[in-house]
Amino acid sequence: MSSDHVMQFPPDFVWGAATASFQIEGATHEGGRGESIWDRFCATPGKVRNGDTGEIACDFYHRYPEDVGLMTELGIDAFRFSIAWPRILPDGRGRVNHEGLDFYDRLLDELLEHGIRPFATLYHWDLPQALEDLGGWPNRDIVDAFGEYTEIVAGRLGDRVDSWITLNEPRVSTWEGYGNGRHAPGRTSQADALAASHHLLLAHGRAVEILRRVLPGAKVGITLDLHPVYPAGDSDADRAAAKRMDGLENRWFLDPIFRGEYPADVLASLDAGAPVILDGDLESISAPIDFLGVNNYSRQVVSAGPDGAGRDVARDPESAYTDMGWEVYPEGLHDVLIRLRDEYAVPSIYITENGAAFADVRSHDGAVRDPEREAFLEAYIGAVGRAVAAGVPVHGYFVWSLLDNFEWGWGYGKRFGIVYVEYPTLERVPKGSFGWYRDLIAAQRSGSLLREASGM
Ligand code: FCB
Repeated sequence: MSSDHVMQFPPDFVWGAATASFQIEGATHEGGRGESIWDRFCATPGKVRNGDTGEIACDFYHRYPEDVGLMTELGIDAFRFSIAWPRILPDGRGRVNHEGLDFYDRLLDELLEHGIRPFATLYHWDLPQALEDLGGWPNRDIVDAFGEYTEIVAGRLGDRVDSWITLNEPRVSTWEGYGNGRHAPGRTSQADALAASHHLLLAHGRAVEILRRVLPGAKVGITLDLHPVYPAGDSDADRAAAKRMDGLENRWFLDPIFRGEYPADVLASLDAGAPVILDGDLESISAPIDFLGVNNYSRQVVSAGPDGAGRDVARDPESAYTDMGWEVYPEGLHDVLIRLRDEYAVPSIYITENGAAFADVRSHDGAVRDPEREAFLEAYIGAVGRAVAAGVPVHGYFVWSLLDNFEWGWGYGKRFGIVYVEYPTLERVPKGSFGWYRDLIAAQRSGSLLREASGM
């Protein structure tokens, strides 16, 4: 697969790779780190496939210099990682663990020494268990706790972070964590989920306010996972089901941030389950941000179930699916980006995650060839390119993920990396897609695609 099918992006377009603390760090009992909801969830029988835990993961906590070396070989401009809240505040509030801050301090220095811009996510799902014990995200007090955490991190690390992402995918924390219980903390209540969503958004607003005060000039955004939802057929019922799902999953987060209001149709459908919204909340949530992070992997096609609510339809025999069972549908990312321009006038966008899991294996020569992932990346980056050409202000792309890692409820059973991790030895083996992405970035830098295209 050659990388020159992808168009020429603007010269200042940021090429990156993304990760998250719990998925790669390991060392869960080291450096004074406290327990997170994911440690507790992993320790609860039946919650995570194969009983996998984050105890070792990729051992990034110790091996980050080697991994920054891989990033340098790859030639990325930026690295997206997250800070583990329980490393900084092991008890959720109060006592600061300086050893935890020291780890990120070392990581930032290593990145900067290699010319890699750090994009730091403050919250990628590893809530201190101590805060869950006080009610977790459904308890409004958590907004103050997140504010304290943000202030500490900004004060110590802010001089070296290029861009801040307050939250990763509040939709997932809301619905998977508190609604259907597939993620930590594993609670199952729609009312709790909706309260959690409002407090997540408020925590985002609080963090924006603090980052602006402590670090004037900081670039601040939030990452949402946006799934385009299409009706399975053109019946009114299918269209209504798609609209409802789009409301709960996409507009419920986009509208408060970019319009300062929750979508009226969704609010009207919630009855008693609606969150308590106080004066000033929506002003705080909709404070201007510098960029939106977009995570996208697939699409949803829904038909109306017997109760009118949406149901995912069966697989499309024409489509390819990844090892997650997710449909490969690059046009969906293009549609999301056009919508963000047309309906929300988003000023600046980064694709903060995009990638694919496949059942990679090492062959007899030790190499890992993953042409499906190369084809996936080529198609999705191509879709981003078409959105850029159409005037959508997309300024960067981060592949998910640098390394195979702990894929939440799937444990180590799903491999998203462009680098294969041999878990028993922790050896890193760059896959074919690593070379593909390296060549793409190099070609973008040298402008060779542009020259080829223009016949120079
Ligand atoms: C996203 C998560 C990320 C990773 C990918 C596959 O929802 O943000 O941590 O698990 O999915």
